[in-house]
Amino acid sequence: MKPSTVLYKDASVPVEIRIDDLLSRMTTHEKVMQLNQYTLGNNNNENNVGEVAGELPAELGSVIYYNDNPDLRNAYQRRCMEESRLGIPCIFGYDMIHGFRTIYPISLGQACSWNVPLVERMTSYAAAEGRMSGVDWTFSPMIDVARDPRWGRVSEGYGEDPYANAAFCAATVRGYQGKSLADSTTIAACLKHYVAYGASEAGRDYVYTEVSPQTLWDTYLPPYKAGVDAGALTLMSSFNDISGIPGSANYYTLTEILKNRWKHKGFVVSDWGSIEQLVNQGNAADKKEAGLRAFNSGLEMDMMSHAYDKYLEELIDEGKVDSVLLDESVRRVLRVKMLLGLFEKPYTGNHPDRFMRPDALSAARQLAAESMVLLKNDSTGILPLDGVGRIAVIGPVAKSSASLQGSWNGRGVYDETVTLYQGILDRFAPEAEIRFAKGSDLDKTTEVELAQAVDTACWADVVILCLGEERRWSGENASRSTIALPEAQLQLAEKIAATGKPVVMLLSSGRPLDLSQMEPLANAIIEVWQPGTAGGAAAADILSGDVNPSGKLAMTFPRSTGQIPIYYNRRGSARRHQGFYQDIPSTPLYPFGHGLSYTTFVYGEPSVSSSTFRKGEKVTVTVPVTNTGLRAGAEAVLWFISDPAASITRPLMELKHFEKRELKPGETTTFKFVIDPMKHLSFPDADGNIILEPGDFKIIVGPHTVNLVME
Ligand code: BGC
Repeated sequence: MKPSTVLYKDASVPVEIRIDDLLSRMTTHEKVMQLNQYTLGNNNNENNVGEVAGELPAELGSVIYYNDNPDLRNAYQRRCMEESRLGIPCIFGYDMIHGFRTIYPISLGQACSWNVPLVERMTSYAAAEGRMSGVDWTFSPMIDVARDPRWGRVSEGYGEDPYANAAFCAATVRGYQGKSLADSTTIAACLKHYVAYGASEAGRDYVYTEVSPQTLWDTYLPPYKAGVDAGALTLMSSFNDISGIPGSANYYTLTEILKNRWKHKGFVVSDWGSIEQLVNQGNAADKKEAGLRAFNSGLEMDMMSHAYDKYLEELIDEGKVDSVLLDESVRRVLRVKMLLGLFEKPYTGNHPDRFMRPDALSAARQLAAESMVLLKNDSTGILPLDGVGRIAVIGPVAKSSASLQGSWNGRGVYDETVTLYQGILDRFAPEAEIRFAKGSDLDKTTEVELAQAVDTACWADVVILCLGEERRWSGENASRSTIALPEAQLQLAEKIAATGKPVVMLLSSGRPLDLSQMEPLANAIIEVWQPGTAGGAAAADILSGDVNPSGKLAMTFPRSTGQIPIYYNRRGSARRHQGFYQDIPSTPLYPFGHGLSYTTFVYGEPSVSSSTFRKGEKVTVTVPVTNTGLRAGAEAVLWFISDPAASITRPLMELKHFEKRELKPGETTTFKFVIDPMKHLSFPDADGNIILEPGDFKIIVGPHTVNLVME
């Protein structure tokens, strides 16, 4: 037989016909092996302690690739291509969450930039670094809407709002997957963790989630729908038990919604060990039953449970797993491999200059600066810093590159990170004299350290106090019972404030913090998040005013841990003026959308194309926004809808559109929101049916509310 007559190897033949041909040649064992993922390389994820596979079978479907050199990939791929009977390529996955080698801000920070095109561009750079290093598939974006900042994984998603998560999800899918997946610079995306993992009870990780069907549809599913619509090839099933049916054995979410209704054509991979963990969750008696439940629910690939490789053939022989479902599952995996062009180009070329390219670095700096949120800038007008002679840089985060990289920092290298101290030095020296004192560790201090910090502060004209979290205080398996910073850092801040010197606080964290005690101790506060490789340079851009801050919070900052959960799009209370906490205000310290600028933006009166309309008609609302200050700046305009009376109650207001634009001093720009009733004014019921009801709606933009009536 000539090679071209082997249909599945012929790229000119339609994918489904190639897969039919390949499936017809595969044994049951070969099919089952396509549904398993092991690891290759040095596992650097401390939460997943798995053995590093020595001799991997040549028939294996996938590996997590813990390396950034394509050589190891190519060596193993060669075995798959040449030593397996049918030469089916392996797909190499990896967690590129906020960058591969060039590290960008954590996703929560990215969301605060409200700059969707920039995030899309950044993910395309990350994809290129990864693919050229041997990675075909990233386990990103993480789009778990999260309202409990005690949960460490809030750092990995795009905040508390479903629409914001959906918008950034679609952007990252476009960025990773590009125009053609067969390109040598694009990778397959993976939407995770499907679904409702963000509802983790009390912010503890891996635990039960209480999610009503209505909340599943209102809050947790929309970002996944957006990702599927954007063409995401894969999803990862979640660890959490969704009100009795774990995410990794949930027929309703995995098959009914994803495959039957949304027509997703790719595959679902389990989270690490989440199939065998069904036993811990009380959903299966043993690993074999766990494999059966997961597989029959619509979960195609087993990440590190060894439930499918061990038991699937047995389950087929016993008639408990249908061979039609087996073929359908394998088809999905093969389809993704074919779309990635792996059959034609199984190996990765050597691109020595693939890391930290200038375009990636400049995007990293811009995105870091745009993600930073100016939380406070009091009337002393300390920021931006201007003509300051002596700067004291104080605090445990000032020289920590680890804090700036955050968790899930891919193949990031600490030494390649611009620390806050370095960024300040590069920007302000030699005009300014700069001194450093650590003052405290992240969670302890001494009298001597405090005294040195006070001395340094007394010498200075201004103190830049760099506080925050250690990189592993957020991320996976990193829950905290309080979101206030440790006592040692508060002590340091108090001592510095007592010197009477102007204080600018830079906070690096992977979650919203309780700043009630810290807030009065600083004249200005910038939340810099975990800003990545260019973090220090970006912070200096903001401090100096070279870049005008434009970040706005994508997640609420509570006044205290006891206020959690607190988020903007809650439903109305039965008694609007009662039921508050007796001991603290019921408002958050910094609400969703909060973020200051060095200029001022004034919103004019909105106008509307028609205030009454019918289903099927579109309405355009516009609002003029003027930069009334003396500096250029960017403003993110957030548009909310309120449906005050509905057959199923709606949140008091819901974000439905946003746009960010640059405005020169004195410039007025008109922002626009085209309302499509079916898309923006409808809501799902508890089974996802879309309901559109006539009535009054309010559109909220800036300080204004516009009333609309749908007849
Ligand atoms: C995490 C996932 C990750 C996977 C592979 C799991 O522990 O929950 O987000 O993609 O490990 O590293």
